[in-house]
Amino acid sequence: MIEKIQALRAEIEALTAANAEELEALRIKYLSKKGEISSLMNDFRSVPAEQKRELGQALNELKNFATERINTLREEIEAGKDAAGMLDLTRDASPVKLGTRHPLSLVREQIIDIFRRLGFTIAEGPEIEDDWHVFEALNFAADHPARDMQDTFFIGRNPDVLLRTHTSSVQTRVMTKQEPPIRIICPGRVYRNEAISARAHCFFHQLEALYIDRDVTFADLRQTLLYFAREMFGPDTDIRLRPSYFPFTEPSAEMDISCDLCGGKGCSFCKGTGWVEILGCGMVDPNVLEACGIDSKKYSGFALGMGIERITNLKYRVKDLRLFSENDVRFLDEFTAAH
Ligand code: DAH
Repeated sequence: MIEKIQALRAEIEALTAANAEELEALRIKYLSKKGEISSLMNDFRSVPAEQKRELGQALNELKNFATERINTLREEIEAGKDAAGMLDLTRDASPVKLGTRHPLSLVREQIIDIFRRLGFTIAEGPEIEDDWHVFEALNFAADHPARDMQDTFFIGRNPDVLLRTHTSSVQTRVMTKQEPPIRIICPGRVYRNEAISARAHCFFHQLEALYIDRDVTFADLRQTLLYFAREMFGPDTDIRLRPSYFPFTEPSAEMDISCDLCGGKGCSFCKGTGWVEILGCGMVDPNVLEACGIDSKKYSGFALGMGIERITNLKYRVKDLRLFSENDVRFLDEFTAAH
């Protein structure tokens, strides 16, 4: 019997199994109730008493050895499965595709950040407005030709329910509610009845700033504009103010920045002038202050308003305005590095 045990041990030691099925067949062959080892255990009963001790021990060792061998083979098969490509531990992790921020959001945040450093806080107002907040309080008389400057979308037949054409309406809302000092920026979407093309859209985004306090002067406005321009477009940027007209500011101006493409020498981007227009501004018209219940003898203020699309175009040279609202991921992906 001892020879049988030794032979079986050698056999088990040399076992191999290519897969789980083969291994299971081996387990049944050696370790099941009707397997080789069990049948040796049966033979053991008829062994003479004096040999029982030695053979019993050898049999137990054989059983343990077989169990271990089968377990080892099982581990090898499982590890082999991995190596065979079920799980490749050397592979790169699946790339997680992060979303990108919309270029308009990126630029809006940059602008907000610059004004925040100057102590401006954000104010918001409704996109569906009434005539008074968008025009009347801002010094657009009922028959004022300036109303034609902005083609208004009306909602239904009521001429008093309209989509705001500019974020200046948020100025009105804040001025009627808050005592000066007022130092706000108002980012938001605005609507105009324009045919959609590469250069115009029926909705776009503006950002307005308003500062009202005692003794606010044009010099404060100019310094704020210069600070903004240099933070936004680089420290070498120059600004130029040209007289202009807006009903709600007096005097009014338009601000140009030096063209950073040609460094002011003149190129096709700045149409040879060396300057590009970026925003409108001025001293808040006393009529506007009074309409909103602010004493124009005590307080003065400046306002400025810019198109976020325009600033974004200057920074990133987006040629077609429509790209901003089409959500084409190929376009949006270009801004991954801008974060
Ligand atoms: N509301 C003007 C527009 O939509 C932009 C603007 C110009 C805003 C001058 C201002 C300003 O606050 O002072 O064209």
